[in-house]
Amino acid sequence: MQTTHTPGFTPDTPLILGMMRLHDHPVLTSPARLADWIAARLEEGLNVFDHADIYGGGECERLFGDTLRAQPLLARAVRIITKAGIVPASMDRSPWQVKHYQAEAGYLKNAIDRALTSLAMEQIDTFLIHRPDPLMQVEEVARALENAVAAGKVRQIGVSNFLPEQWRWLAANTELPLACNQSQFSLAHTDPLFDGTLEAHLADGLRWLAWSPLGGGKLADRIPADILDRAREETGLDETGLAIAWLRQIPGTPVPVLGSMNPDRIRSALQGTQTVLPRPIWYRLLESVRNTAVA
Ligand SMILES: NC(=O)c1ccc[n+]([C@@H]2O[C@H](COP(=O)([O-])OP(=O)(O)OC[C@H]3O[C@@H](n4cnc5c(N)ncnc54)[C@H](OP(=O)(O)O)[C@@H]3O)[C@@H](O)[C@H]2O)c1
Repeated sequence: MQTTHTPGFTPDTPLILGMMRLHDHPVLTSPARLADWIAARLEEGLNVFDHADIYGGGECERLFGDTLRAQPLLARAVRIITKAGIVPASMDRSPWQVKHYQAEAGYLKNAIDRALTSLAMEQIDTFLIHRPDPLMQVEEVARALENAVAAGKVRQIGVSNFLPEQWRWLAANTELPLACNQSQFSLAHTDPLFDGTLEAHLADGLRWLAWSPLGGGKLADRIPADILDRAREETGLDETGLAIAWLRQIPGTPVPVLGSMNPDRIRSALQGTQTVLPRPIWYRLLESVRNTAVA
């Protein structure tokens, strides 16, 4: 099968490792244990790690940074995506205590500086605006992002959870290319295949970074066991490998942002990145999650 890679995002990696659940793994909360875990991923060829300022209330970036501070060699080998722009109620310093978005120039500038400190990195590889903010003053935000890139604090920029017209409005206001859009996409969330979202990523050259590629662990509830068993027999892939192979086969080759930190599941996911599903299996999986036969 010929694969087409939407060019925007570099480096070309088969999987990104999502760090949203890092603080849920007590065994990885010591820098030495986390360093071993990161080193094992690097040996597998995986060096891109996805963070956000709000993951674990800031704890995930801090734990990762403590590890990199203690292991400068690892710090040189990893590439970091991070995002900012969501203020959870617990982090709202106003008396309102309201969750809100803050894609605002000064806020994002400070968030980039905070992330560099927390993560103990000299450069954020890819910085994303976490959610579209209807109050965003696009020109001011664009200048803030351009300044961060010019200062070497950020290598490339992108967006997350943006609709096509939202990312186009930002793109129209900056000279910087948008490398990617990170949004929900998996066998548990297939609507973007049918509403033009896929084609918009391709047409505009944004690499699709697909969050929750395993449906947050709920795929087995959606796909009947007999279909999974038959697909496993034919491909040698377990449920994780099938979900990843299914995603990677889509034009533009979306990059899954995997949330599992379990080495066995990561290995299954990697197997999925190396397998092309026969078209009937790809469609049978789609049909089973959409509960509707192909017309
Ligand atoms: N940009 C955004 O707005 C946004 C939003 C959400 C997430 N994200 C990013 O996307 C990453 C991935 O999100 P995610 O964690 O929801 O992704 P996911 O890879 O779909 O789900 C991972 C979770 O599902 C569990 N799981 C997977 N397969 C399972 C199975 N067969 N049986 C039992 N449990 C299973 C994993 O448990 P184990 O640990 O046991 O494997 C883990 O808790 C995050 O870390 C974050 O970086 C971005």
